[in-house]
Amino acid sequence: MTIQSSVWLGTASLPRYQALDADQETDVVVVGGGLIGLTTALHLQQEGVGVVLLEGGRIATRTSGNTTGKVTSQHGAVYAGLLDRHGRDKAQQYAAANQEAVDEVDAIARRLGIDCELSRGPSYVYSTGDLRDEAEAARELGLPAQLADPLEMGLPLSAASAVRFDNQLLLHPARYLAGLASAFTGAGGRIFERTRVTELNAEGDGVEARTESGRRVVARHAVAATLLPFGTLGGYFARTRPNQSHGIAVKLPVQAPTAMTISAEAPTRSTRPWPGGGPNGLIVVGADHETGGQEDTNASYQSLVDWVDQLWGTKVQPEYRWSAEDYSTADQLPYVGKAPGSPVLVATGMHKWGLSNGTVAAGILRDLVLGRSNRWSDVFDAGRIGDARSVAKLVQDNLKVGKEFAAGHLRRLLGPGLDHVEVGEGGLFDLDGTTVGAYRDQGGTLHTVVPVCTHLGCPLRWNQGDSTWDCNCHGSRFAPDGAVLDGPATSPLEKPDQRNGKRG
Ligand SMILES: Cc1cc2nc3c(=O)[nH]c(=O)nc-3n(C[C@H](O)[C@H](O)[C@H](O)COP(=O)(O)OP(=O)(O)OC[C@H]3O[C@@H](n4cnc5c(N)ncnc54)[C@H](O)[C@@H]3O)c2cc1C
Ligand code: FES
Repeated sequence: MTIQSSVWLGTASLPRYQALDADQETDVVVVGGGLIGLTTALHLQQEGVGVVLLEGGRIATRTSGNTTGKVTSQHGAVYAGLLDRHGRDKAQQYAAANQEAVDEVDAIARRLGIDCELSRGPSYVYSTGDLRDEAEAARELGLPAQLADPLEMGLPLSAASAVRFDNQLLLHPARYLAGLASAFTGAGGRIFERTRVTELNAEGDGVEARTESGRRVVARHAVAATLLPFGTLGGYFARTRPNQSHGIAVKLPVQAPTAMTISAEAPTRSTRPWPGGGPNGLIVVGADHETGGQEDTNASYQSLVDWVDQLWGTKVQPEYRWSAEDYSTADQLPYVGKAPGSPVLVATGMHKWGLSNGTVAAGILRDLVLGRSNRWSDVFDAGRIGDARSVAKLVQDNLKVGKEFAAGHLRRLLGPGLDHVEVGEGGLFDLDGTTVGAYRDQGGTLHTVVPVCTHLGCPLRWNQGDSTWDCNCHGSRFAPDGAVLDGPATSPLEKPDQRNGKRG
């Protein structure tokens, strides 16, 4: 049977923390317990700055705990493009920042004694075309890159060219994050889980975080490390796109390739060894699509299985399968720093390379709080989104988009009435002339929601492969009972009886 969980979350024991039940005062409030929030919080606490970290769900369980676990400066075949688009200085900063992050993650894990399956090895990007320009650009930018024979990868496929980056890093991301959290609390930091922040407002010289349950944390600085800044903070929701990838962990009939590999062209196929699966264990991640943009996400998982079956002439049954999302920016560079028109520091748009980009981001955020300069703040500048006034206009223009969009998009009904919703089935149904979202769980309980995103009102799509409600506008995801899984939304979905004004 395939377990619906990342292989990492399925094999890590994460510490648990209480929900916030009293107002707090601190130096810095960090919102979000993924890689960026935890690394930033740890850095600051170790510098003697008091930090309270607020996590809406459980730490490490969203995107960071669902990665491929590659810590590498090889972000696909991006360097020829970055050089061309941003010029030598910026491309070199991006390259150097990420290459240093590989060593930094390794050093942090070793210093803290985190048992997270660290291993070093080559990473390859391969193509059906010619990657000589990519190899040359990466070398020119100072990266440990070489044009390589695709046969070196050990993948049974034919590629015309490949670029190898030497000495890159693999880890077990959930164990790494659990280790960061323990080190942070060990240094005096405080973590509160199941504590969703709904607002970050200026308060005197500082910032006040307000939570869903009405608690407040007042701090001198606030960091939103929430994958995408939530609500309309900074207008980043309108300048990024959410993209979901799928992953499987399988045991091959033969020894798995030991190198990391990734295809340069779509459909993306990213592989790495799966140590927990023994010598034949392989992880494959890819089948990307915009969040909420795919009709049948089971087909996305199947496409990864088919790829393995075809390459190795076998019929594998994945032991784990999972998906997660990340955000991309139009110019390929993340946004890290102060959000325009707000006192809040943000980090977003990691382009599915947030283990390295996010480690760089945490260093920038720490230095901004401490008033130090940082070598990489320029290339990741969060202010390039525009000034406060243009961001306010961007937000205003977007506020009406969702609701207008929703009006014409809730018509794809599976059938009238809810009685015949099968176990495991979900979608849009007609209930007395009203469209509702419904899902019957494995225990037979029917969950109904208003299938309209609580961020800006876009219609939601049922994701049958992951049993979630997904929003294609800006990437919010909700559980079958309507609870927020991923922002920018901060409120759960309404229940049909709430909207009709009836009592449940
Ligand atoms: C399938 C996949 C594979 C990937 N593989 C790799 C890889 O191999 N290497 C690599 O470098 N990168 C990889 N990435 C990218 C990388 O995982 C992300 O860029 C990175 O994890 C982002 O970290 P984060 O801390 O910003 O986000 P998250 O890990 O999502 O953390 C954000 C946290 O904020 C919390 N939160 C959100 N809103 C609120 C709120 N309002 N109040 C309180 N808490 C809130 C969430 O619950 C969550 O825990 C991958 C991405 C995907 C999707
Ligand atoms: S995430 Fe913005 S409307 Fe859904």
